[in-house]
Amino acid sequence: PVLVVDFGAQYAQLIARRVREARVYSEIVPHTMSAADMLARDPAAIILSGGPSSVYEDGAPALDPAILGAGVPVLGICYGFQAMAAALGGEVARTGRREYGGTDVDVCEAGVLLAGTPEHQSTWMSHGDAVHAAPDGFTVLATSDGAPVAAFEDVRRRLFGVQWHPEVRHSEHGQTVLERFLYDGAGLAPDWTPGNVIADQVEKIRAQVGAARVICGLSGGVDSAVAAALVQKAVGDQLTCVFVDHGLLRAGEAEQVEQDFVAATGVNLVVVDAQERFLDALAGVTDPETKRKIIGREFIRVFEQAARDVVAAAHVVDGGAGAAGTADSAAHPVEFLVQGTLYPDVVESGGGEGAANIKSHHNVGGLPDDLQFSLVEPLRELFKDEVRAVGLELGVPEVIVWRQPFPGPGLGIRVIGEVTRERLDVLRAADLIAREELTAAGLDRDIWQCPVVLLADVRSVGVQGDGRTYGHPVVLRPVSSEDAMTADWTRVPYDVLARISTRITNEVADVNRVVLDVTSKPPATIEWE
Ligand code: XMP
Repeated sequence: PVLVVDFGAQYAQLIARRVREARVYSEIVPHTMSAADMLARDPAAIILSGGPSSVYEDGAPALDPAILGAGVPVLGICYGFQAMAAALGGEVARTGRREYGGTDVDVCEAGVLLAGTPEHQSTWMSHGDAVHAAPDGFTVLATSDGAPVAAFEDVRRRLFGVQWHPEVRHSEHGQTVLERFLYDGAGLAPDWTPGNVIADQVEKIRAQVGAARVICGLSGGVDSAVAAALVQKAVGDQLTCVFVDHGLLRAGEAEQVEQDFVAATGVNLVVVDAQERFLDALAGVTDPETKRKIIGREFIRVFEQAARDVVAAAHVVDGGAGAAGTADSAAHPVEFLVQGTLYPDVVESGGGEGAANIKSHHNVGGLPDDLQFSLVEPLRELFKDEVRAVGLELGVPEVIVWRQPFPGPGLGIRVIGEVTRERLDVLRAADLIAREELTAAGLDRDIWQCPVVLLADVRSVGVQGDGRTYGHPVVLRPVSSEDAMTADWTRVPYDVLARISTRITNEVADVNRVVLDVTSKPPATIEWE
């Protein structure tokens, strides 16, 4: 892999993603990992990320020069660039001239790293220190007002560096710079493709699962669907999928899973109708965290029961096949549970390395400690966009692959106030209209997701026909995001908003007002609860 060494800023994930966009496999490792451990992984190249420290500060993350002398191609970015300069005898100093945000850079020599990029380019910087003199053997490639050396390279030793952040989209030619490093500087081929990922995972799943049975909870979302499709491809009928209909789904979702997904993949599916159970458990509850906990708890219980039923049914089937079949079923009970854990979850849980400190995210709650299954997590190495690419390659329907994220607790955390069947129906109707209009306007892929939220305990006065109304407002919360960690509200065209508003207030009784949420994350979260 290409190792991205995380020096403590939030950029490492972005770098890893951009490297994979260049179709080269990358993994993030913490800067605390020893050089020997890094080299033991036989990295094809190493990228040193930016970070918040100054190389001269006490306690600043150190760069072991062994990394630079091992013959592995290295690209330093921002702090990583300065650390490389300092480690090899260059001069790094405070400039008194902080550059933050869009910064113009002059290219004095394109070299390998900046080949094919213009002489003047806009980059995204964030630094107070700067490299004043490049180490011996390096060619200075670019300068900016605040960075006498803004990029350098030593082609012979295959060491490269840039002061700016090529991984950030605001750096005009950032992706080109990363690709020059990967393809030309490090001589790597762009062969990390969905097809290869699938072949690789299928092999791993078969090795892990053997002849045992596997179950997978489907949420209707892209992650669990693609995880299931991968496992299905690997072990076929050993897999049973369970879909819990908790009544907090959006219009058409259960049908989509039952019909489209099963038709496309041929998985065994068990649908559990648990609507009553969830509504009963949620009766009278208004506190968001309490709601989440209840929904998570009920989900696990229903799911565990369904898993037991799958086992029991399997025993009946195998038992019918005679003595050999009975022995077979005893040897192969359900042992594995598929989880759609993604790489960002792994990294955020402090992981990437080993399994010990990694919590397994769940679509709804957390998994119970006494879980009876071992986990199969075929998406652990993938980012969301890669999951989508793999899904398409596996034939998962586009409506599922391109579905916007939807929280496990579902509409339960979008009815503000107590959750009741009537309120859910109102919200479902409004939500469907918003989705239809956004899709008709061709905005689905511009919007990360657009929660519709029912303020069920709020009423406002309106007028409709000749009469006074006293109904509820719904909130439209369209957001743009790359990873849901941060988000901005999407500037949906006014005429689209107008159509949504007109239709909702006309077609959904009880809703007489539509409002737009114009808050970024932070400070607000995407969901209201
Ligand atoms: P927030 O509201 O924290 O949401 O900004 C970030 C992203 O996560 C989704 N979300 C959840 N997804 N289970 C999930 O599977 C949950 O409990 C949950 N809560 C929030 C949310 O829709 C957004 O995409």
